[in-house]
Amino acid sequence: MPTTDAPDDQRLRSRIVAELTRTRDRTVALTEAVDDADLVRQHSALMSPLVWDLAHVGNQEELWLVRDVGGREPLRHDIDDLYDAFKQPRRDRPALPLLPPAEARRYVAEVRDKVHDLLEQVRFTDRPLVADGFAFGMIVQHEQQHDETMLATHQLRDGAPVLTAPPPPEPTARVADEVLVPAGPFTMGTSTDPWALDNERPAHTVELPAYVIDAAPVTNGAYRAFVADGGYDDPRWWTEAGWRHRTEAGLAAPLHWRRDGDGWAYRRFGRWSAVRDDEPVVHVGFHEARAYATWAGRRLPTEAEWEKAARFDPVTGRSRRYPWGDEDPGPEHANLGQRHLWPAPVGAYPAGASPLGVHQLIGDVWEWTSSPFRGHPGFAAFPYREYSQVFFGDDHRVLRGGSFGTDRAACRGTFRNWDYPIRRQIFSGFRCARDATEAEACG
Ligand code: AVJ
Ligand code: FE
Repeated sequence: MPTTDAPDDQRLRSRIVAELTRTRDRTVALTEAVDDADLVRQHSALMSPLVWDLAHVGNQEELWLVRDVGGREPLRHDIDDLYDAFKQPRRDRPALPLLPPAEARRYVAEVRDKVHDLLEQVRFTDRPLVADGFAFGMIVQHEQQHDETMLATHQLRDGAPVLTAPPPPEPTARVADEVLVPAGPFTMGTSTDPWALDNERPAHTVELPAYVIDAAPVTNGAYRAFVADGGYDDPRWWTEAGWRHRTEAGLAAPLHWRRDGDGWAYRRFGRWSAVRDDEPVVHVGFHEARAYATWAGRRLPTEAEWEKAARFDPVTGRSRRYPWGDEDPGPEHANLGQRHLWPAPVGAYPAGASPLGVHQLIGDVWEWTSSPFRGHPGFAAFPYREYSQVFFGDDHRVLRGGSFGTDRAACRGTFRNWDYPIRRQIFSGFRCARDATEAEACG
């Protein structure tokens, strides 16, 4: 007999089916937007051919749901190595004997059929992998993460534009420059969000002194002033590693920017337009974000500072799931889910602000923090070390909050992303912070 009552299981099943279907629709849209030759092409050495992402998503779904949760026989056990991200570095993936597009599509559809069969019978027992449908939620998030990766591949692709979406909303609110976050403890991470991944767990108390954080991400207009002031040519603003990278890579502006008369233009999914000053800057690496902050007399927030600004409710002392509360993100809260193809101008999401008045923490751009990626105190790898644990250490910096390309299923106030400090093909921006002055701290 199922250990939970049938109506609850039924509700969970329907929710899982809805999430799987919604997610697959996006994967299909991203892979059908281009022809087969384009699907197997590598658009950048940093990225996989789109057809690799497609079959990899199916292969992970087969491994975790069909074989592990379902205990069923492998469909294609011969292809496991091809789609193992650790065995196949990205730059080598185009040369692999990958499933051609038609076969990859058939494979992912067959896996999905098996998952639907399995869902009819699965019991959401206490077994950690299936409790609250965790493995299904993990697979939904995994596919959504690859959908964002595929969107980043689209952004790197040359040729005629193939993706369209309405522009993000216009500003409706005035946003302050910065916000004071009072000293004191807050709860970081979660032990209760059923689909939270291992690196978000467990909930723990973090005590922070008072600090000041930008009420919005750094805009193109502000970043342009840094560029115009010679910020890229002055080693004073850069760390040694940052300056070395800036020199080797010839960095002079965010990725996808070019000079346009006196100003700048950027390329977004194959279309060039003038840089708009009130949008969050996107496609900057950690080193650039840090250099900007130093030039501005500021610093990047730590990860804990970002999360307290996003989740702490000073009235109740509780941490919320999202800045606006505990409810799932809607279109009024945040620019998420590839509804729009670039960040929204500052002031476009007043309904998504945190209790302290910090805006656009969720969606728009992933925000670099100063923190290296590590486990929270009490971290336990689950269900596999290769999701997070093998990336812990000083090589990766944490990014928070999700971008316009991130789905709501893969974004929460506790969600953690990470990357190398030189990476900027991702939809990455930042905001700045500073220590509170004594006068501010005493309020
Ligand atoms: C969490 C975005 C860093 O894309 O490398 C996808 C997510 N892990 N497949 C990545 C992930 C395994 C991961 N990031
Ligand atoms: Fe993956």
